[in-house]
Amino acid sequence: METASKIWMDGKFVAWEKAQIHILTHTLHYGGGVFEGIRFYETPNGPAIFRLKEHLERLFYSASKLDMKVPYTKKELADAIIGLIKINNLRDGYIRPLIYFGYGKMGLDPRGCKVNVAIALWPWGAYLGDKPVKVKISRFMRIHPATTYADAKICGHYVNSILASLEIHEKGYDEALLMDYKGFLAEGPGENVFIVRKGTLLTPKLGTILAGITRLSIIEIAKDNKIPVEEKNIREKELLQADEAFYTGTAAEISPISKINNKKIGKKPVGPITFQLKEIFTKAIHGQLPKYKKWLTFVD
Ligand SMILES: Cc1ncc(COP(=O)(O)O)c(C=O)c1O
Repeated sequence: METASKIWMDGKFVAWEKAQIHILTHTLHYGGGVFEGIRFYETPNGPAIFRLKEHLERLFYSASKLDMKVPYTKKELADAIIGLIKINNLRDGYIRPLIYFGYGKMGLDPRGCKVNVAIALWPWGAYLGDKPVKVKISRFMRIHPATTYADAKICGHYVNSILASLEIHEKGYDEALLMDYKGFLAEGPGENVFIVRKGTLLTPKLGTILAGITRLSIIEIAKDNKIPVEEKNIREKELLQADEAFYTGTAAEISPISKINNKKIGKKPVGPITFQLKEIFTKAIHGQLPKYKKWLTFVD
């Protein structure tokens, strides 16, 4: 992976290679931590962070579900992120804030554990590459909303994503798709999913998925451009009959899907609505559309 020079840990900037923790850190054993993935991009006015406010809100929401008392405010973490971008002197990259139960207590109830916060960032290109991706529906079901808070970004949830990724990469596919406990389409291991059917943009409704911030942005862009959008339950049959399909996510950005379970999706590898949305989104994150400047936090 690419690296940067400094990482923010509990209020201090430390050298990348010195950002270390104790082996008995609670979260390392049980997965009870929360995190975010945020991107910042080069714009004509210098680097800008995409939807920082929404990411920090989701981070604190996730922390609240584990009863974590975050020892910083959202404003303090926003300032830390801005300071970290400046100190690392990067123009674009991926930001990873992590709140975790620290060292000093074992046992499953984390209350009484120290709550630590770290923020790393580094240059990171398109997560799923630049080409349309070949997808397989995983045999693993997306986490059940009655066993956890499926809409929180909790570290332990990602074992479900790891298992699906291992399974489908082994078989030569690029990315997994997971169905929910009712058999409806849910999401990818780290992405939301959209399909296009007869000119309408369809995406799974909230409930068993992460409420993606890219998903929200794409829904807004589609509505602004008079593309009808429906959040609904989608069955496998409807998915496979899609005219277009794509993933959305901070890491993946907008990633067109060319095949699902070896079935070709649409006539072209990138369909016209996917192309249009991706183009507007790309301009928006790079500060080229005044309408969407509201989503950007400028670093300088
Ligand atoms: C499981 C899962 N779904 C969806 C997403 C997409 O969310 P966002 O667009 O907020 O990055 C992510 C990434 O954060 C994720 O991990």
